[in-house]
Amino acid sequence: MNPQQLTLALSKGRIFEETLPMLEAAGIRVLEDPEKSRKLILATNDPHLRVIIVRASDVPTYVQYGAADFGVAGKDVLLEHGGAGLYQPIDLAIAACRMSVAVSQGFDYDYAVRQGARLRVATKYTEIARQHFASKGVHIDLIKLYGSMELAPLVGLSDVIVDLVSTGNTLVANHLVEVEKIMDISSRLVVNQAALKLKRERLQPLLHAFSAAVALAAESAKCSAPSQLMQSMQKMQKEL
Ligand code: ATP
Ligand code: PRP
Repeated sequence: MNPQQLTLALSKGRIFEETLPMLEAAGIRVLEDPEKSRKLILATNDPHLRVIIVRASDVPTYVQYGAADFGVAGKDVLLEHGGAGLYQPIDLAIAACRMSVAVSQGFDYDYAVRQGARLRVATKYTEIARQHFASKGVHIDLIKLYGSMELAPLVGLSDVIVDLVSTGNTLVANHLVEVEKIMDISSRLVVNQAALKLKRERLQPLLHAFSAAVALAAESAKCSAPSQLMQSMQKMQKEL
């Protein structure tokens, strides 16, 4: 293992896009756009840091086995994976949404989840669903899907779905109603436990930079003076 070389696992789309400003705060630029290139290994302006592009749900696996030293993954994905071999130091507060139960309009959810009842649940998030309904004492038949969950209650595949909700537009467009929030979801930085020890000197400044960028983003959400924010960002970039 080259202790200098670092590999960061990211997924295309919102995680890549929302992680970029944090990398930039650490002085790192990714030299290619995964939306335009078919390449899966992307160079950065730091010759010792490369980015690999993987499916969102595969990020923990790459990091667990050390194929990537660190990565960014949603709490949903991490709960489904189980977190073995991963250190999860920072909630990046990006890709924010919630995991919820949704039903067709008119479906009597309160009656359906009475103690001892049996419910057909379609979801990609089987672990989260299993634990949620077990905690309520509701027996479920789990139907594993890989996408378009909203369709399941509409065509009689399931009584309810467990899925991510952000604006709620997808539910509305499909005449579904959110009946219960299970948990808030955001994305976390995950680090391979062995890499954290063996590549500590290389990783630590990056972890600090991510933490600083999260704190700054939280501050900017409150801050009403953007020029002040720009000044503090520039100062921080120089210091890093
Ligand atoms: P895969 O490609 O592995 O099936 P995916 O399609 O869920 O995963 P993305 O859509 O890129 O991958 O989502 C990545 C992460 O972003 C999710 O794990 C979740 O934490 C978060 N997320 C998903 N949907 C939304 C949304 N509508 N708004 C905000 N964040 C979301
Ligand atoms: C997620 C989720 C919902 C949608 C909710 O899908 O599975 O379908 O977002 O967002 P909304 O409440 O803002 O409408 P995503 O956009 O990630 O598509 P995918 O599952 O096909 O990748």
